[in-house]
Amino acid sequence: MTATWPFATFASMPPVHIERAKGAYLYDSNGREILDAAGGAIAVNIGHGRVEVADAMRDAVVECSYTVPPWLTPQRERLLERLIRDWLPPGLTRIHLTASGSEGVETLVKIALEYQAACGRPQKAKIIARTPSYHGTTLGALALSGHESRRFGLDHALPPIPDVPVPYALRCPDADVGGYCVRALKEKIDQEDADTVAGILAEPIVGASGGALIPPDGYWQAVRALCDERDILLLTDEVMCGFGRTGTRFALDRWAVEPDVMVAGKGLGGGYAPITGVYGTEAVAETLQQAGMNVMFHTFAALPAACAAADKVLEILDRECLIERAAKTGATLKSQLTESFAEHPHVAEVRGAGLLIAVEVVEDRESLDRYAAEDGITTRITSSGYRRGVSFYPGGTGTQRDIIMIGPPFNIGEREVGRIVETLVAAVDEVTLA
Ligand SMILES: Cc1ncc(COP(=O)(O)O)c(C=O)c1O
Repeated sequence: MTATWPFATFASMPPVHIERAKGAYLYDSNGREILDAAGGAIAVNIGHGRVEVADAMRDAVVECSYTVPPWLTPQRERLLERLIRDWLPPGLTRIHLTASGSEGVETLVKIALEYQAACGRPQKAKIIARTPSYHGTTLGALALSGHESRRFGLDHALPPIPDVPVPYALRCPDADVGGYCVRALKEKIDQEDADTVAGILAEPIVGASGGALIPPDGYWQAVRALCDERDILLLTDEVMCGFGRTGTRFALDRWAVEPDVMVAGKGLGGGYAPITGVYGTEAVAETLQQAGMNVMFHTFAALPAACAAADKVLEILDRECLIERAAKTGATLKSQLTESFAEHPHVAEVRGAGLLIAVEVVEDRESLDRYAAEDGITTRITSSGYRRGVSFYPGGTGTQRDIIMIGPPFNIGEREVGRIVETLVAAVDEVTLA
């Protein structure tokens, strides 16, 4: 089949045909069983092929296949109630549903700009973003993404965005990583002029672009305080790290900090349906409402079947205590990987939280020098993993490389943990030691 547009990241692999999927496994057209250690694009949190999710979606299609997103249906109501009751940080009480994460990010940014205008501060129209990061593939979200390879071919046409470094302990020039990054943010706000800044957009734990980068304690509290001082909205992107992926409901919960507006998708639908939410405070929503401003919907947002799927996925996550399991299994997986790569000359670090784990591969472990981009180390390792029967997710941004991501379903067991470790060690050895 050549009837598709190019996608370089997987180009070096032979074409993959997946015929079915069950639990943590994919089955390809050659009858091979592949362990889905990437959860697709780090979205599959309850495993594949859950019949009760399919039943809920089927019932929803029969009851009401479509109606405009702002109208309520029983499926929408059930999901909104569950999100507010059991899932969202207490301050986030208003929800706007979209299909993709990119649409959610666009909506979140528009809400921030509208909010500042509604407060009588229309000059506050800039968003400060961070590098490395990924916020989506639409032009606005891509412009905000510190992701060289996904900007390639478009960079020249994207509007310039002020950006600051993400706390990245391994490569930070200052031992006080949090202090360094907070100072950089302060300086950037001053340089841009706080009166022109609407919001700061950030992944609380950076996903695949940087490879599960966890900031030091105190960083988020300091960013929150800075935002409050200067009437800047804290806008968090938990599309990848939210809904239990890092072992807490949302990544920012770890530091007991709340954003003004958050976007989180992927795990919400668990790979069963395209669904993402943009969640905001009463203060933000009320301000927009008073000013008569709208948050426009996408035609295929909040489909009843997608809401029914998400409602069931969240029910299963709680019923089966899968977030606790992700935290526990993730800790075991991370410690086994750390031990296995402890002396490896080409592995700089194993990092992450819960079941969002990254392995950073380098040419020289002492100097942290990277392999040349042309060596294509990441894709060679993920291809070798696939050949050996485990699917890993290629991370990094082109500049920030080589990153192998692990983000399996939360209900994997010991057998899968062992297979992930063994396969990744073999794949990294094959590519870097041969
Ligand atoms: C942190 C983050 N934000 C936004 C997106 C974009 O989401 P989508 O691919 O659903 O548009 C992604 C996708 O990987 C992501 O990881």
